[in-house]
Order: sequence, then C-alpha cells, then structure tokens
Amino acid sequence: MSCILISGGFGYIGSHTATILSEKNHKYVIVDNFSNCKRDIVDKIRKITKNKVCYYECDIRDTQSLINIINENKVTSVIHFAALKSVSESLMNPFEYYEVNVNGTISLLRAMKLTGVKKFLFSSSAAVYGEPDFCPIDENHSLKPLNPYAQTKIIIESILKDIYEAEKNWSVVCLRYFNPIGAHKSGLIGDDPLSGKSANLMPEIIKVVKGIKDYLNVFGNDYPTPDGTGIRDYIHIMDLAEAHFKALDFIDKRNGISFFNIGTGKGVSVLELKKAFENVSGLNVSIKISNRRQGDCAVCYANPKKANVMLKWKSKYDLKQMCESSWKFANRN
Ligand code: NAD
Ligand code: UD1
Repeated sequence: MSCILISGGFGYIGSHTATILSEKNHKYVIVDNFSNCKRDIVDKIRKITKNKVCYYECDIRDTQSLINIINENKVTSVIHFAALKSVSESLMNPFEYYEVNVNGTISLLRAMKLTGVKKFLFSSSAAVYGEPDFCPIDENHSLKPLNPYAQTKIIIESILKDIYEAEKNWSVVCLRYFNPIGAHKSGLIGDDPLSGKSANLMPEIIKVVKGIKDYLNVFGNDYPTPDGTGIRDYIHIMDLAEAHFKALDFIDKRNGISFFNIGTGKGVSVLELKKAFENVSGLNVSIKISNRRQGDCAVCYANPKKANVMLKWKSKYDLKQMCESSWKFANRN
C-alpha cells in the first residue's frame, strides 16, 4: 500500500488535509517539529478520523531522520507543508525563512532522492505573484516577490523545475494557495487565532468578537475597489484540503511539473467578509480604519480554471459556510 509523508501535517492546512486523506483511506505519516502547532492536535485528528495518528516529531532539516522515516514507512509520495509563513516576520528575520523554507525543502528533497521517492506536492502561495498586473490571476502571471517569504516559495519552485529537468521521472505539483479560512465541520481543528505570528483577517475578526482585541484594524479604505477595502480570494480550508487529494491522484498518473492556482475565483472585500461574519455570528465586529499595510495589494483573486480542468477540482463552499465553520471552531476552542 502506498504511504504519503506529510511534512507540517499538524499545521492549519496539513491537519485538515490529513482528515481528508484518512476519509479516503490513504495511509500517511506526519512529520512535524511542533514549532507552530499545539500538542493536542494529535488527539484532535485521532478523534475526527477515528484512527491512530502515525507521526514523528522531527525537523525537516534533519535529513537522516527523514530517510529513516521514509524507509520505515515505505513512503511513496510527499506533501510538503512545513514552513514558516508570516510575511512580516520574514521581513524582520529573512535568514530564518531561507533556512527553514529553502534549506528545509532541500533536506526533504535530498532524503527523497536518496530513497528513490519522486512524487512531490508542494505548498506554494499566491504571494509569488506580488502586486498583480491583472485579475483573475492565472498561472502564467509573472512572479514578483514582495518579501522574503514569497521569495522562498519562488526559489523552491525553481529548484523543483531544475530537479525535474535533470530527472524526468519526478512528478511534482505546486499548489499556489489563495486565502484559506474556515475550519473542519467538527469545530475541533481550525486556524488558531492565538497560535503563530501571522495576523490574517479571519483570525483577527475572531479576536475581536472574542474580546481579545477591541476592534479590527481595517488596513486602508482608499483602495480602488467598490468599498475602498482590499479584495482577496477566500477559500474554505476543506476545499483547499480536497485539492491535495485531487493533486495526489494527478501526481500518481504522470511525471512532470505543474503549477495550479487554488482559489474560488471570487473576490471579496474586507468589509464584505466582516459583514458575512456578522450575519453568521449575530455579533458586531467593531472596526477602525487605519493606514494601508505595507506590501498589501488592492485586489488579488485567482483564475482557478487550470485546477478545475486538470485536477478535476472545484471549490464547493461559499463565504457563509466559511464564516460558519470559523465561528464554530472559535466557540469550541
Ligand atoms: P502552519 O504554520 O499552520 O503549519 C506548518 C506546520 O509545519 C506547523 O505544524 C509547524 O509546526 C510545522 N513546521 C514548521 N517548521 C518546521 C520544520 N522545520 N520541521 C518540521 N515541521 C515544521 O501553516 P499552514 O497555514 O498550515 O501552511 C502550510 C503551508 O502552506 C506553508 O508552506 C505555507 O507557507 C503555505 N501557505 C499557507 C497559506 C495560509 O494562508 N495559511 C497561504 C499560502 C501558502
Ligand atoms: C497574507 C500574506 C500572504 C500569505 C497569506 C497567507 C501579506 C502582505 N500577505 O495574505 O503573502 O500568503 O497571508 O498567510 O501579509 N486585513 C485587514 N486587517 C487585518 C488583517 C487583514 O484589513 O487585521 C486585510 C488585508 O489588508 C487584506 C485582507 O484583509 O486586504 C486579507 O489579509 P490577510 O488575511 O493578512 O491575507 P493576505 O494579505 O492576502
């Protein structure tokens, strides 16, 4: 039976993906160093999947341990989530970002090469496009990193292209995620607003309604958008998780390297998301208009057609369902 190694499988996206893989009866082993997740995540995944969770506490930069894990578990493919993901932190501490994201990936790829595993699914980001020249953004849009975090994703994509050019029996897919929000229907796992250093919009909204923050800072209302606030492509975390399942099937069937946008194709403004959350929760989200955040673009949403056609994947959940699941998670935790 094939076995998938999931690096960073206890994080926000990895944990949701693990539940889908379990549902589809895929065997997997998680490798995580617990740097950005809580220990109780193991028990939560076990509760959801009703299965024992096979995992190793291991840093992806420890190549020898990865080799041992791959051999012990007869790993046949890898989904690589493990990374540092805060844009602001990457600007303050770029060294750490290149070290974990780039060196960590090279260590994982080296372990794969030495064990003959050649199927690789990589978590890339819409951040690779920088300030978009056009929307919806397709995969041929130019890559313009605005920060070290985005740069690490572009470097890794380039490394993967070179590996495939040199060894045509690799099968690689890079998924460029847009803005995942929401949580598993159980309410047990989600994007913990109190863990990590990133301050994405939905966790910030949750902090306000939970009384952890007095108001939501709306970063600019003078953008050239209908209500003046930034527009993004929010995608339900379970839709994003499902895309990994579809991409694994794609990887299994052909060699090559492919890049896919994973988004809904719909742009939603900060105020629209706030309103949708208020409608679902029945609570008021106080706001304060502040200056634009450095590095933010006005509008960013995906053209997901390539993934729709080639991966046979399409987002299913709407904004209301994203807000409902985030709210359920916030209330259970
Ligand atoms: P996350 O921080 O919740 O999960 C990452 C997991 O990797 C954590 O459990 C952490 O403990 C682990 N990890 C970090 N460094 C490690 C190391 N050196 N060795 C082993 N484990 C390590 O992040 P996420 O939101 O689940 O993101 C997963 C991937 O998707 C990342 O590569 C991220 O850059 C990418 N991505 C995320 C978003 C987003 O909005 N969340 C958007 C685009 C791309
Ligand atoms: C951010 C990162 C991006 C990364 C993604 C996932 C930046 C510049 N971009 O995307 O590279 O891939 O997270 O980790 O950090 N907003 C507010 N108030 C808040 C928080 C956000 O108004 O307190 C606004 C932002 O200005 C933006 C929208 O909400 O218009 C979404 O922001 P966020 O959730 O941080 O995601 P991105 O900036 O799109």
